[in-house]
Amino acid sequence: MLLGVNIDHVATLRNARGGWEPDPVIAADICEKNGASSITTHLREDRRHIKDEDVYALTKTINTRLNLEMAMAEDIQKIALEIKPYSICLVPEKRQEVTTEGGLDVAGQFEQVTDFIKPLLEAGIIVSLFIDPTEQQVKAAAKTGAQFIEMHTGSYSEAFGTENENCEFLKLKDSAKLAQSLGLKVNAGHGLNYVNVQRMHEIPGLVELNIGHSIISRAVFTGLAEAVSHMNELIK
Ligand code: PXP
Repeated sequence: MLLGVNIDHVATLRNARGGWEPDPVIAADICEKNGASSITTHLREDRRHIKDEDVYALTKTINTRLNLEMAMAEDIQKIALEIKPYSICLVPEKRQEVTTEGGLDVAGQFEQVTDFIKPLLEAGIIVSLFIDPTEQQVKAAAKTGAQFIEMHTGSYSEAFGTENENCEFLKLKDSAKLAQSLGLKVNAGHGLNYVNVQRMHEIPGLVELNIGHSIISRAVFTGLAEAVSHMNELIK
């Protein structure tokens, strides 16, 4: 199973000061040098973290694969067609949400999704659809022409350690099996952390996990000791 790292939170931190650090391009390089198989960034409609110039820079610097998360927005589609990332992951997007809430309703917007991804597929970009782990969404996704689904693991992650954990986990396992039987490749992500990630190994054939928040959060603490010591050395 491969690990894709979502670096959006690095850009969130940078934007809090409005300067250049921490630079998501450097973050992507560190992730790649330490085993990330791909780098994910979400170019949101409101550009709250990753900005257009970050995506253009990442296109030039990434040595693995760039996975561009995007909503069904024409201006972002235009950028994707211009930079041609290795893959895009289509997600739903609401302006007020803190992070992506829920999967894309492919079943309810079948024509729109199919039409939207067509030029991207024709341009040779791999298309993944971020969906909730339900039979209805998996079956709809399989008919769109997309090669991948990314199963939304948010409900499983939230239920981890509670009486609902198994129920949410089985939804993921069953959906992955169904998707694979319909010819789709299966990724997963959202809310995964250093504890709940363990059970992903129980799902046969998962290709890649996309993880952001818990890795960047962990990095703050694993890097803090060195950062303080180094500054102290300089001051002394
Ligand atoms: N996959 C998708 C489609 C997402 O939208 C996100 C969040 O941006 C992630 C994975 C990563 O989620 P998290 O930051 O909770 O690890």
